[in-house]
Amino acid sequence: MVYTVERIKTGIPGLDKLIQGGFVKGSAILISGGTGAGKTIFCLQYLWEGLKNGEPGIYITLEESSDEIKKDALVFGFDFETYKKKGKFKIIEKNIFEDPDLEFFDIDKLKAKRIVIDSISLLSLIISDQASLRNRLLELIRSLKKRNTTLLLTSERIGDNLSRLGVEEFLVDGVIVLNFTPIGSQAGRSLFIRKMRRTKHSEDIHPIEIRKRGIRVLNI
Ligand SMILES: Nc1ncnc2c1ncn2[C@@H]1O[C@H](COP(=O)(O)OP(=O)(O)OP(=O)(O)O)[C@@H](O)[C@H]1O
Ligand SMILES: [Mg+2]
Repeated sequence: MVYTVERIKTGIPGLDKLIQGGFVKGSAILISGGTGAGKTIFCLQYLWEGLKNGEPGIYITLEESSDEIKKDALVFGFDFETYKKKGKFKIIEKNIFEDPDLEFFDIDKLKAKRIVIDSISLLSLIISDQASLRNRLLELIRSLKKRNTTLLLTSERIGDNLSRLGVEEFLVDGVIVLNFTPIGSQAGRSLFIRKMRRTKHSEDIHPIEIRKRGIRVLNI
């Protein structure tokens, strides 16, 4: 029996072509990168793409306030407010790891198809030992997958480590690394697909740019 993988568009121009058409539906993807690398913008574009295609979405923010996220989005012309009024979108400021039930209630009510958790880096401050951290994350990822949602998690990248906590990259189906190296007056931004289960993906480092429409993969 051949199993056809269902995919959803990432919303990042040029990226779908590098991963056989998009993220595997129902998968969990980690967006890893240093500060200012574009993780939040990536997530906003991903949710916006879903809303345009009739897929409700939820943004769970653990660092920026919901007002800040709304402003970040408006810069690129993503007016989430319209979808919020229609009951298709919601920003949640609460920590899903402390009160998961409440958040699942919202996810079920909205019939959310796309979920973002930005970011999970602070988790290590709340949960100190690695084993329970890993279990909590795994539990969360599983519950979200059961609901057939496609999940993006962001994590700060420190040096050569893919993620701050050092456990999350093994729990997810895919890892995309965003890089930002300031080179004098020029900014060198790039994207790299570190892992993408069930996908024949590009193994190159791809230059990207952030402009008024958001992130775009160059030379595609
Ligand atoms: N309109 C714009 N045009 C070009 N570049 C922009 C624009 N808006 C933001 N940027 C760039 O994007 C960066 C912010 O991206 P983003 O907030 O997604 O980063 P992040 O990886 O989430 O960072 P953090 O770890 O601090 O949350 C800014 O520092 C700036 O370099
Ligand atoms: Mg951010």
